[in-house]
Amino acid sequence: MSLIIGIESSCDETAAAVVKDGNEVLSNCVASQIRQHAEHGGVVPELAAREHLKALHPVLSQALQQAGVGFNELDAIAVTSGPGLMPALLVGLSFAKGLAAGNNLPLIGINHCIAHVYAAFLNDNYAALMSASSYPLLALVVSGGHTILLLIEQSGKASVVGSTIDDAAGEALDKAAKMLGLGYPGGPIIQSTAVGGDSQKYHFPRSLTGSAGKALAPAHRFNFSFSGVKTALLYHIRNHTENGITLQQQHLRDTAAAFQEAIIDVLCRKTIDAVEYFKAKSLVVCGGVACNTVLRDRMQQDLPSSAALHLAERQYCGDNAAMVAGMARHHLLRGEFMRPDGDAFSRLPPITHIPFTPKTT
Ligand code: KG4
Ligand code: ZN
Repeated sequence: MSLIIGIESSCDETAAAVVKDGNEVLSNCVASQIRQHAEHGGVVPELAAREHLKALHPVLSQALQQAGVGFNELDAIAVTSGPGLMPALLVGLSFAKGLAAGNNLPLIGINHCIAHVYAAFLNDNYAALMSASSYPLLALVVSGGHTILLLIEQSGKASVVGSTIDDAAGEALDKAAKMLGLGYPGGPIIQSTAVGGDSQKYHFPRSLTGSAGKALAPAHRFNFSFSGVKTALLYHIRNHTENGITLQQQHLRDTAAAFQEAIIDVLCRKTIDAVEYFKAKSLVVCGGVACNTVLRDRMQQDLPSSAALHLAERQYCGDNAAMVAGMARHHLLRGEFMRPDGDAFSRLPPITHIPFTPKTT
């Protein structure tokens, strides 16, 4: 039996969670900073760091209390060490180092992007995803910071087979909402604005799909690009507005629906193409954008029956610490701990293996 507390502070959520045996979530507490950043139209790194400083202690106490667990019962402390916003990461990491030293517990550093994949392993999906028959497994990690396709073998060998060459999908949705004057964060606002909109009314480009009249370079078959669709939206807004008056009502809804459709269409088509190409036995869809209803429905509808679909539960799609604490168990079993001088990192390092496949435990 293992009990691990996880701490997450890579962006604008301060989170702590206690997870038993790598999958049973005993508590999952998140303090969101959305309100503080909304007035700036996006996340301000220094503000995020200061908010983490305020929220970490209360969120940690709440997570322990809700789980009914004391420090003396824990086996380890896990913390997101990157990628993310450096000032924000350093607050969480310093806090976790102090806790680990003060309670004489081992510290485990967690890769945030891989933890998003692990979010799909929590609770009920665990048995299926830890079974050899789920591999090779393809994961679409789609968030504000990442859009990657990660191929994972049963041995734990992993490689990024596709990624965005510019903006992440969530970033494009956030910027689109800002351009439309809808606020932050854009993904959920675009989704709700799109309800009642006609997604076919306007056509936004599907970059790197070979649909722009040019042949698609094979190297980009599984890569994404979302900067063109953003520029197209900018021109669309300019062409449909006069004297600085923004789009209104039905026109706004149709625009949001068509823009969302363009992003989701590319995500689904490329992911399903990759599932078929790599003969994946299962597909994990995770990260903040995986909360999106249109994306979830479309994957369910279009994924061929040769692969099993595992959508991360909505509560574990956005940034949370349950995915951090859960994944840490596999590092614990492998004896992989953070050294006392362990550092944070802002960019995604090359991924060559992951610690949580059937062969690795
Ligand atoms: O995983 P996450 O919480 O943070 C990062 O690691 O980036 O993802 C945040 C992203 C934001 O871009 C947000 O707009 C997007 O997830 N998002 C959504 C939805 N909910 C959050 N995008 C589309 N539809 C949603 N319902
Ligand atoms: Zn994230």
